Amino acid sequence: MSHIADIRKDYKLKTLDEQDVDASPIKQFNAWWAEAEAAHIDEVNAMVLSTIDAQMMPHSRIVLLKGVDEKGFIFYTNYQSEKAQNIAGNAHVSLLFFWKELERQVRITGSAEKVSQSESDEYFNSRPPGSRIGAWASPQSTVIASRKILEKNVSEIEKRFANKMIERPPHWGGYRVIPSGIEFWQGRPSRLHDRIKYSLHDDGSWKIYRLAP
Ligand SMILES: Cc1cc2nc3c(=O)[nH]c(=O)nc-3n(C[C@H](O)[C@H](O)[C@H](O)COP(=O)(O)O)c2cc1C
Repeated sequence: MSHIADIRKDYKLKTLDEQDVDASPIKQFNAWWAEAEAAHIDEVNAMVLSTIDAQMMPHSRIVLLKGVDEKGFIFYTNYQSEKAQNIAGNAHVSLLFFWKELERQVRITGSAEKVSQSESDEYFNSRPPGSRIGAWASPQSTVIASRKILEKNVSEIEKRFANKMIERPPHWGGYRVIPSGIEFWQGRPSRLHDRIKYSLHDDGSWKIYRLAP
């Protein structure tokens, strides 16, 4: 077994320069997204979502990116979950992508707000039936006595919706993270990485900075 402290990698695939990036961070994200998809990164849409609870304790977990538009980054979840309770108390969140095959990291900070009910309906109705049942069956983030509870919930929900459309539960839907900062990180040799940071200014414009690695 290798010694943990000896595990290291030198990054040398690509570079990132101020003159190469788009003036819009969303367009820049879309450009990197296209490259990440082309690189066939497994679960390319997996991102770490961090929220803050009432005691200012941070919590991180993976969620899946389900859409990006000019306004922000969309994910779906249970509106009664721990993350949703955190967001209700403090809308400030961060998102993080690590695309290791491209030696890239994207860090996003912003505010989360619920997407419209029709947006949530549209996405919910596109999900496979098992996932739609699961959204009803799981009281996400609560303590349950055993897995049997989930199985019992599933069979009850399946009966309730037998031969009927499985509609979206009211406690399930999307959030859009409206970004105020986005950093694009490209690994470089000898830890001298490229970091290009977009910050949203009060006048609504994005300013681009290079950060020291
Ligand atoms: C690859 C992966 C994808 C996930 N995608 C989602 C997701 O899109 N939405 C979601 O609510 N949970 C997703 N989860 C589960 C969350 O990480 C987490 O366990 C769950 O949302 C409960 O978090 P909370 O108790 O902090 O609210 C995913 C987990 C993994 C590992």
